[in-house]
Amino acid sequence: ETGLTTFDGGFVNTSACKSAITYIDGEAGILRYRGIPIEQLAERSNFIEVSYLLIYGELPTASELDAFTDRIRRHTLLHEDLKRFFDGFPRNAHPMPVLSSAVNALSAYYQDSLDPKDPEQVELSTVRLLAKLPTIAAYAYKKSVGQPFLYPDNSLSLVENFLRMTFGFPAEPYDMNPEIVKALDMLFVLHADHEQNCSTSTVRLVGSSQANLFTSISGGINALWGPLHGGANQAVLEMLDKIKEGGGDTTDFMNRVKNKEPGVKLMGFGHRVYKNYDPRAAIVKKTADTVLESLGVNDDLLDIAKGLEEVALNDDYFISRKLYPNVDFYTGLIYRAMGFPTRMFTVLFALGRLPGWIAHWQEMNADPSTKIGRPRQVYTGYTERDFAPLDQR
Ligand code: SDX
Repeated sequence: ETGLTTFDGGFVNTSACKSAITYIDGEAGILRYRGIPIEQLAERSNFIEVSYLLIYGELPTASELDAFTDRIRRHTLLHEDLKRFFDGFPRNAHPMPVLSSAVNALSAYYQDSLDPKDPEQVELSTVRLLAKLPTIAAYAYKKSVGQPFLYPDNSLSLVENFLRMTFGFPAEPYDMNPEIVKALDMLFVLHADHEQNCSTSTVRLVGSSQANLFTSISGGINALWGPLHGGANQAVLEMLDKIKEGGGDTTDFMNRVKNKEPGVKLMGFGHRVYKNYDPRAAIVKKTADTVLESLGVNDDLLDIAKGLEEVALNDDYFISRKLYPNVDFYTGLIYRAMGFPTRMFTVLFALGRLPGWIAHWQEMNADPSTKIGRPRQVYTGYTERDFAPLDQR
């Protein structure tokens, strides 16, 4: 239950969190949601089913899936006043702070679903978040390009609705590309949960104070933005663009990584848990080829990325450190081919991770043994000493 790790000879009690939602074996490169391998879910399921599986623990029956889909569809609209919330942001705002602020604002607009101890309110806030985050994300994008917001169209699926609100225009019908819908749905499945990662641990910690679900998820969005976490998919594209601008020489770049030049990392590589190929990265890499081909996109950054991977998988610096591609290494190339700007990549990660965050918050919230999160520390500061008056300092 509790791991004891040494700290300069002393012992710091690091309690591991118990969870039944996702299982990862970092050495073997295994990832399972509620016991089902990610490879099977990516190939045979879809995002709304996987969201149900993560949150309620089982794959839904046909009638459960219909009811769940209908419950979500009923809540895709934002309160009209909340739409004006976006007017307050500068156009050049990064969409992630817009997303986390708007999600936190749901606590102000939907005060009838804040009580974590009322199961009906927990369910209501759950479906409201699943329904409204795609709308908020699309509005954050529309704000950044100065285009009109589109209301949700509930005849569409969750992913179709998001794509239409993001790239559609009021004046003309949106030309839905089924290849993009299928690929984006599968990418959301791959991102849906990943046990106690930084942002999920943040959601659980905020929620452990009995803060409501909206504000806990807002905390998770903020943690995800960091370039070492969900922000890595944006950082990978910026890294590839820089290598291309420099003439595309991967050897030179890799030498800079190995020389540990400040601020030079192989973004999209390495992982706190996977010391093997991230199983999601393998699936994303395959998808990148098919999506770019089906969209007729020939992105030379994909060749640069594959070149970097080839070098890394055969270079002892990376092999000895067990550095392999993670989920973020290839995803940005697919998002770009779909038409998303780089700054929207981490927003897409958040859309995918939402059901996992909710599942973990609900698991923590429902567990009677849950106590408020209170990490301990090893004090390394001064021993006791007296106050020094100003004229004696
Ligand atoms: C995600 O936790 C999750 O599950 C997260 C996630 C999820 O689904 O929620 O999987 C999503 O966040 C994936 C990670 C995305 N981040 C990146 O791609 C950023 C680049 N990666 C690194 O910053 C790093 O690999 C981390 C942050 C992911 C992990 O950092 P660690 O645990 O500190 O890495 P480590 O201790 O295993 O490093 C061992 C060695 C060190 O070198 P030495 O000091 O031993 O000489 O490997 C080096 C590190 O400096 N190293 C890298 C590197 N990652 C680690 N060197 C170059 N490039 C890298 N990317």
